[in-house]
Amino acid sequence: MYSLALLLAAGSALAAPTQKLAAITCPIVFDGRVPATWAADPTKFDTYATNTIFNPDYVKGNDLKWSTILQFPDVPKSRFEGNDTVSLEVTLSDQSIFQKQNGFRRAGLQFLKDASDGPGQTGVKTLHWSVKQDAARPLNLTHEYLNVWHEAGDYSSNQIQFQTGQIIGKSAADKNNWKILDRNGKQLYAVAMDKTQWQNFAVKLDYTQNQVQIYYSVGDAALKSVAGPTSANLAGGGQFQLGILKKPTGTTDVVNSGYQEKNLNEGQIYGGIFLEDSANGCVSL
Ligand SMILES: *[C@@H]1O[C@H](CO)[C@@H](O)[C@H](O)[C@H]1NC(C)=O
Ligand SMILES: *[C@@H]1O[C@H](CO)[C@@H](O)[C@H](O)[C@H]1NC(C)=O
Repeated sequence: MYSLALLLAAGSALAAPTQKLAAITCPIVFDGRVPATWAADPTKFDTYATNTIFNPDYVKGNDLKWSTILQFPDVPKSRFEGNDTVSLEVTLSDQSIFQKQNGFRRAGLQFLKDASDGPGQTGVKTLHWSVKQDAARPLNLTHEYLNVWHEAGDYSSNQIQFQTGQIIGKSAADKNNWKILDRNGKQLYAVAMDKTQWQNFAVKLDYTQNQVQIYYSVGDAALKSVAGPTSANLAGGGQFQLGILKKPTGTTDVVNSGYQEKNLNEGQIYGGIFLEDSANGCVSL
């Protein structure tokens, strides 16, 4: 008879070769990778005393806690996860109304120490994130989504934005694409959303030269440069945000009004979130 331990060991030995976690080779400025132990106790996300990774108060439904917004789906690890970190899923419900923004449904993670005068806003920094889709909580790509962005300190624009769905006022033809836009809405890169595999992105922001370079890969593959370096106005400080901001349809006042369907149950899985220091051209691939 085989013992249970042996069977489990055999199982993980079989599973192991599909997992090729990559090392982060540059200094980490902000680490958004979540220790696996937090999945069992997500209330750690709810208070400043325990959440050492993200701002526990931002940006979410007024009556919600991050411990109920976040899910920890059983998915393969993304490229830059550690053996002891887990992916997380940001979810939206009808309660995902921030302040009085009745048009939006949103839940966005901010690095705890990110600030306009902080280390995320100087020199050359690269933001990494991977995305995976949850078939049980699909996004409705008839709407415009903002998923990862860098918002200027005066909140007047986003220096860089990673979006999907139908961008309001634009053609619906590319609604199934991920799109990376600059602060003027100029598209720097686009790629179809993959419904099954991890998609890995990195955006290098050179604040000193106002330049952006984009890296991308699918699954376990190493990142490759896919766009840039190209000029982009990165001035204005601010902070990063990662999650979901779903815009309404049928309005010109997207913040406050418009249509959102009821009984929302949408999610976006993220893994391998971190900001690294790309001084001297260093980018983890
Ligand atoms: C993860 O664990 C495997 C198996 O023990 C090991 O080979 C690998 O180096 C580890 N990866 C990291 C990033 O620590
Ligand atoms: C997607 O959004 C559109 C516009 O709000 C809505 O008419 C449609 O019912 C939604 N589809 C699903 C599957 O929720």
